[in-house]
Amino acid sequence: MKPTTAPRTYRVKSFGCQMNVYDGERMAEMLGARGIVPAAEGEDADLVVLNTCHIREKAAEKVYSDIGRLTKGKTQDKAPIIAVAGCVAQAEGEEIMARAPAVSMVVGPQAYHRLPEMLDKAVAGERSTDTDMPAIAKFAALPERRRTNPASFLTVQEGCDKFCTYCVVPYTRGAEISRPYSDLVTEARKLVEAGAKEITLLGQNVSAWSGENDRGHKVGLAGLIRDLAQVDGLARIRYTTSHPADMDEEIIAAHGEVEKLMPFLHLPVQAGNDRVLKAMNRSHTVESYLRLLERFREARPDLALSGDFIVGFPGETEAEFEDTLKLVDEVRYAQAFSFKYSPRPGTPAASMDGQVAAEVMKDRLARLQDRLNRDQHAFNTASVGKTCEVLVERKGKLPGQWLGKSPWLQSVFFEGEDIAIGDLVQATLADAGPNSLRGEPVSAHERRYENA
Ligand code: SAH
Ligand code: SF4
Ligand code: F3S
Repeated sequence: MKPTTAPRTYRVKSFGCQMNVYDGERMAEMLGARGIVPAAEGEDADLVVLNTCHIREKAAEKVYSDIGRLTKGKTQDKAPIIAVAGCVAQAEGEEIMARAPAVSMVVGPQAYHRLPEMLDKAVAGERSTDTDMPAIAKFAALPERRRTNPASFLTVQEGCDKFCTYCVVPYTRGAEISRPYSDLVTEARKLVEAGAKEITLLGQNVSAWSGENDRGHKVGLAGLIRDLAQVDGLARIRYTTSHPADMDEEIIAAHGEVEKLMPFLHLPVQAGNDRVLKAMNRSHTVESYLRLLERFREARPDLALSGDFIVGFPGETEAEFEDTLKLVDEVRYAQAFSFKYSPRPGTPAASMDGQVAAEVMKDRLARLQDRLNRDQHAFNTASVGKTCEVLVERKGKLPGQWLGKSPWLQSVFFEGEDIAIGDLVQATLADAGPNSLRGEPVSAHERRYENA
């Protein structure tokens, strides 16, 4: 590659889970700390970071087509500097370097704190790859957070030792590691100073977090949540994603006792049949999962539940799939994510017998999503009439309209005056659609009365 001028503008495109989005924000902050500014909407950026996801489908192919689009008909001095980051970078870094000469940098999810050095090399005309997995070193090397959304993410745990047979995450993110307690408390305080009202604790297995608190006690996620609830100015705490095998009495109790912990639980189950769960290496059964939910609901009766599902896992029969529908009918999720099984290179399930035909998966997914949508709409409808706090996250499409989230993670839009992003507005939920609700803010007069 030829040397090039230092970039003035950047764009980070994140394609994956919330942690991928978090990583994207942190990379953007690093570039910002170097004086590089975000490219204006619709304008080409001098530096593009493709922050990729490897979880499903032909994610790698998408990277190549994006690279093609960015460089089409452009000589090197007109094309942007391209970095490929995220989980595809981790899994297929070498191939990307070999196949896409327009890429200057390949950086894995545990190495992106080195992006600035790599950028210096790129400007000097040198390509580089960094897919090392140092144990959590990146966080110490990242710049402080100065500005944030009212609803912010905080990565507390990374990696996965569960090795579900369909999943690439243990290979792309590495082994389970917990960030230290004191770093997290400090970072949560900084986020609140920077404007956060809500913090979602992130981890591929967030419920596996463990650490030593400032009193020298070993604590789990529940202990961390209880201490973060003491942070002044922080109004809401959420966490995601948990694994049923790690959920203990303490986290259940925290849901009943910690007011700032929102009444929402995302607890993926994947399938509703024990043979399939075993083949997935899920280490829970349908029964143990349902019993766990029962205990959560006892602790927090208004808890909204969310889950992840995979249809068409190798060998899944029609009858086994119908067990998933039965499970859904029993749980009645407030929201859920569901996917067609996608064979991932290098995972055990990819070479299992009985790969399910694409049309069968499509049909099963449609039937499952019908039920999940029905339940989501029913949950929203049942919320009508409740008065709750809505955290305002952005302006709506119409003038005077605002968009925010209810405690149950529902999108709520409403009209109101004297409102700013980051406000917690008392609103009565008035109408329910499948994906959002319309709220009516309690009048300013009533609000003043409540505050008095
Ligand atoms: N650690 C989390 C999230 C993993 S990825 C957990 O254990 O739940 C998010 C979701 O993607 C998974 O819950 C699963 O439903 C889905 N997923 C993972 N691998 C997949 C694959 N190979 N094909 C289809 N869906 C997959
Ligand atoms: Fe993947 Fe399973 Fe780990 Fe979740 S628990 S990240 S699905 S291996
Ligand atoms: Fe995707 Fe990596 Fe997240 S594969 S789902 S970006 S952990």
